[in-house]
Amino acid sequence: MQFQDRVAIVTGAARGLGAATAHELSRQGARVVICDIDGALAEGVADDIRKEGRDALALRVDVSKIPELDALVKAAVDRYGRLDILVNNAAICPRIPVDDMTEEKFDQIVAINLKSVFFLSRAAGNAMKPGKWGRIVNVSSVGGRTGGIYASTVYAATKAGVMSMTKAFARHFAPHGIIVNCVAPGSVDTRLMADLSPESLQGTIEGVPLKRLADPLEIARVIAFLSSDGASYMTGAILDVNGGAMMP
Ligand SMILES: NC(=O)c1ccc[n+]([C@@H]2O[C@H](COP(=O)([O-])OP(=O)(O)OC[C@H]3O[C@@H](n4cnc5c(N)ncnc54)[C@H](O)[C@@H]3O)[C@@H](O)[C@H]2O)c1
Repeated sequence: MQFQDRVAIVTGAARGLGAATAHELSRQGARVVICDIDGALAEGVADDIRKEGRDALALRVDVSKIPELDALVKAAVDRYGRLDILVNNAAICPRIPVDDMTEEKFDQIVAINLKSVFFLSRAAGNAMKPGKWGRIVNVSSVGGRTGGIYASTVYAATKAGVMSMTKAFARHFAPHGIIVNCVAPGSVDTRLMADLSPESLQGTIEGVPLKRLADPLEIARVIAFLSSDGASYMTGAILDVNGGAMMP
């Protein structure tokens, strides 16, 4: 129960890696604010946690809308009196070949995957300052290192941006006891992988020395570590959790 007195926000927590992270932080004692653009699904995750006898709050939030991010932080602090942990997890990865990319789609991917990380980290970090302790964990991707392989050029660029922002925010918030780190997963068994062709999926798995996709919980456990006291001398770090698919 290492997060007994802690309050956490997890974005994109209605399913996949975000839901696994919300469950893991909650199991270890945190009160978790589950936010997602799919409010009904987010409520379902919160219900599951409450059924296990713990507190959770679900909020419908579009992370690409900056006023909604400020309102999210305020709602967490109003409800629980503090904020300690932020997991910037929400993202989209539409598979769009270079020649089919539109300006509108480009802007949407950047707004959800990257702009949100800047504005929510700023708002949440400022709310963590009174406690002189904080953890921000950004979810990037192996694609941020490789440039993205399966029609995900813009997605991959946002994930490289997330790595860069991790380092900048690590310096920015260090004087306040707030550490900022990043996890770069390889291929995880979630909806995000569902639109890969069977051949691409097979090729991906063959390229992983461990010969399988990650279970979301295997990434969530690393996020929980980066959210813990155990990570106290790490900041600005990027942890590659990819079954050996890419060893930088
Ligand atoms: N699945 C993988 O193979 C993989 C690999 C590397 C990195 N990642 C990263 O892991 C994170 C989680 O992805 P996942 O695999 O669980 O995908 P997912 O599609 O299952 O979950 C993403 C969640 O984000 C939510 N979301 C989308 N747009 C939103 C918005 N505007 N506002 C709020 N919520 C929004 C979705 O509703 C969904 O619940 C992402 O940052 C993704 O880039 C995933």
